[in-house]
Amino acid sequence: MASILENRPALAHEVEQVAEVAGYLWQKGWAERNGGNITVNVTEYIDDEIKAMPAISPVYPIGAVLPHLKGCYFYCKGTNKRMRDLARWPMENGSFIRILDDCASYVIIADNPVKPTSELPSHLAVHNYLIGKGSNYKASLHTHPIELVAMTHCPKYLQKDVATRLLWSMIPETKAFCPRGLGIIPYQLPGSNELAESTIHELGDYDVTIWEKHGVFAVDTDIMNAFDQVDVLNKSAQIYICAKNMGFEPDGMTDEQMREMSVAFNLPK
Ligand code: 13P
Ligand code: ZN
Repeated sequence: MASILENRPALAHEVEQVAEVAGYLWQKGWAERNGGNITVNVTEYIDDEIKAMPAISPVYPIGAVLPHLKGCYFYCKGTNKRMRDLARWPMENGSFIRILDDCASYVIIADNPVKPTSELPSHLAVHNYLIGKGSNYKASLHTHPIELVAMTHCPKYLQKDVATRLLWSMIPETKAFCPRGLGIIPYQLPGSNELAESTIHELGDYDVTIWEKHGVFAVDTDIMNAFDQVDVLNKSAQIYICAKNMGFEPDGMTDEQMREMSVAFNLPK
């Protein structure tokens, strides 16, 4: 049977980008076993032929009513699937889903009936939120970056914007490329609606959030950009930890240097 990606270069490009990022996540050590998940809103690439494709799965409930997702389509990593496998075989380790008209359930339409990630409630609630506010963000990424997750085991870094300021001050580019900083989300059960709700709440102020003692959840226009934001933040966390391992508390950039940086790059204060 032909793949949905055949003769659809734009859709295929989206999946290729996901596969490339999945490879990076594995190489970085952020994707042990099935750790992490990715979803991309691909509705803009959906043609009439795809709209007519039959379901290849039962109807699954989302667990919430998400009105802005009516008729939307997503590429989703499969639950229990490994990023390192998805990097090579994205259509065997992920699938395309269609949200049904009740806005509360979905079916899989291609290529294989791979059940989407267990974090689908968070991903879909976030996409619903993004569409609702007219955002051009299409991709969401959940991953387990070692140093950032380690920091969430210390109450100091769970206070609002403490980690953000520390990470921004480690290297000038961090604020330039993650200008909204890191939102903190207290521990919630993975895959729960409570986790989804807290994530949406924080995404009002941040593009990257961290789930305490678990991992990050980031959004951006495409999956490469979402990955880059997490990558620059985790690089700063590594520099901080490296300095601590050398036996000293790093100075960090001064307030004056941060201000100069913000003006030069036209960043929020
Ligand atoms: P899935 O394999 O269901 O995507 O779960 C991985 C994960 O990181 C859960 O938080
Ligand atoms: Zn996880």
